[in-house]
Amino acid sequence: MIIAVTGTPGVGKTTVSELLAQKLGYEYVSIKKLAEKKDLGEKIEDEIEIDIEKLAEVVREEFKEKNIILDSHLSHLLPVDLVVVLRLNPELLLKRLLKRGYMKDKLSENLEAELVDVCLIEAIEEHENVIEVDTTGKTPEEVAEEIVTLMEKGIKKRVGIVDWSESYEKIMPHLRR
Ligand SMILES: Nc1ncnc2c1ncn2[C@@H]1O[C@H](COP(=O)(O)OP(=O)(O)OP(=O)(O)O)[C@@H](O)[C@H]1O
Ligand SMILES: [Mg+2]
Repeated sequence: MIIAVTGTPGVGKTTVSELLAQKLGYEYVSIKKLAEKKDLGEKIEDEIEIDIEKLAEVVREEFKEKNIILDSHLSHLLPVDLVVVLRLNPELLLKRLLKRGYMKDKLSENLEAELVDVCLIEAIEEHENVIEVDTTGKTPEEVAEEIVTLMEKGIKKRVGIVDWSESYEKIMPHLRR
């Protein structure tokens, strides 16, 4: 079983993926590291552009029949059995990304993505089994535990659980015009 953990940068994918892998006894895989190892990234300006088609091929070949957690904001574009989309209230995401020292453009791009559900929508377009988890006000431990519980209950689809429209006013000044 391959589980993709996705979400806007900064929502807590790596933290939660590692915990989830521990709890389930799955292997944790960082897509970024895998893409580097397999040389699937092309450097465009200061960003690495990953070749998704080739990466999908690698995932199909290498992780067949294995229990894997794939950590990446692109993991929902890969051939996986379940997608977990982590969500975080954009006002908290703003604080977290500012702490990371994100510049205006990157800050705007990521806040907007969270505000309008980009990862969730892409995940739903690609996959049937999509579980959305609101991490707001929860510890990484609580988030991982919530995912385990949903899986134990056999829940394969749970989406549409957050609505960030009330944060729009506060986030708007940080969005590019
Ligand atoms: N549930 C949580 N509560 C509080 N802080 C958290 C939580 N989850 C993660 N964090 C903190 O938020 C920061 C970002 O977390 P993390 O690196 O796991 O995010 P990410 O989604 O993997 O980011 P990226 O997409 O850039 O890899 C870290 O400092 C982490 O300790
Ligand atoms: Mg990460």
